[in-house]
Amino acid sequence: MSDTNGKIVVYSPGRANLIGEHTDYNDGYVLPFAIKRYVKIEIEPSKAFKIFSEQTKKGVAFDNLNRTNSWADYVIGMIVKLQERGYNVKPFNMRINSDLPMGAGLSSSAALEVGVGYAICQMMDYDISMEELANIAHSCEVEFVGVRCGIMDQYAVALSRENNALFIDTMTKEYKYVPLNLDGARLYLVNSGVKHELGSSEYNKRRKECEDALKIMGKISFRSVSVEDIEKISDDVLKRRALHVLTENERVLKTLSALEADNLRLVGKYLYESHYSLRDNYEVSCPEIDFLIGEFEKSSNIYGARIVGAGFGGSVIVLADTGFERVMDEISKKYVIKYGIEPKVIDVETSDGVHRIE
Ligand code: GLA
Repeated sequence: MSDTNGKIVVYSPGRANLIGEHTDYNDGYVLPFAIKRYVKIEIEPSKAFKIFSEQTKKGVAFDNLNRTNSWADYVIGMIVKLQERGYNVKPFNMRINSDLPMGAGLSSSAALEVGVGYAICQMMDYDISMEELANIAHSCEVEFVGVRCGIMDQYAVALSRENNALFIDTMTKEYKYVPLNLDGARLYLVNSGVKHELGSSEYNKRRKECEDALKIMGKISFRSVSVEDIEKISDDVLKRRALHVLTENERVLKTLSALEADNLRLVGKYLYESHYSLRDNYEVSCPEIDFLIGEFEKSSNIYGARIVGAGFGGSVIVLADTGFERVMDEISKKYVIKYGIEPKVIDVETSDGVHRIE
């Protein structure tokens, strides 16, 4: 994707998440990072609001800021939310392009929201902090689009730094950068080709289940929940949801220590454990992805892997040595025979968060 004729051009990355899944709306920890796959946004002032998607070759013009129940809502929602915070937005002409697959668990929606917000602020000359931008994009997703997500994606897209993961305590919104020294190993993303369309309704349902579990335990935050508290829940589903949250938070902290000690085999073990918990306790995996994980477990080239993002399809993050591609060729053949879909591998390169190209 190249730049063009003097317009403001913004690149907004997708994100992966090393570990810490479904913890960000439960006051927990996450460890995401941005990847070198982008939503590209070109913007220039205009007499009326016009947006154009290079991918679908479809344009939308609008003169009010009502919801449309289409992808345009990510743009309209950002205008509404910026204005609510006192940032006036003048009409613009916007072109959007992307090499970030949608529905692949790599946060194309947060990339779009944060990118649109950043592009508008650049056009209007607003000096907005990345934290505020991320929070506005989050309110767009929750209040305008209607998915009750946590803050991980918008923070990762806005604040990431190349070669680092972003450790976020989602209770305090404090964050720090964690160098990703993988020393010979690599991270890969494998897109299962299963689109996580069930995503938003099941996602909101998981969130409600966590709230119900907290009520039963008489707690206001998962941060003060112990295994003994969880034992008191008689409903099996709610008990398993709570167990996932508690153990996943522990795994994030253990992964941080393992990364600091350069113990990548141990990091891999936590990735597998995270997957089992997402599969069995949180029930957000799917047969295709469980098949991939089952195959990965058989190879000593692969240290660990797990489903990434909201789940119900999407991608798998894999920590492996460079023998991975050969192993994956064989697994792909079996996957194609079994499911009739070709899994797509992205060799992960970490990226800076949203930025402007001069
Ligand atoms: C989606 C949401 C995030 C987070 C993940 C699951 O990507 O947008 O806030 O909850 O699912 O970890």
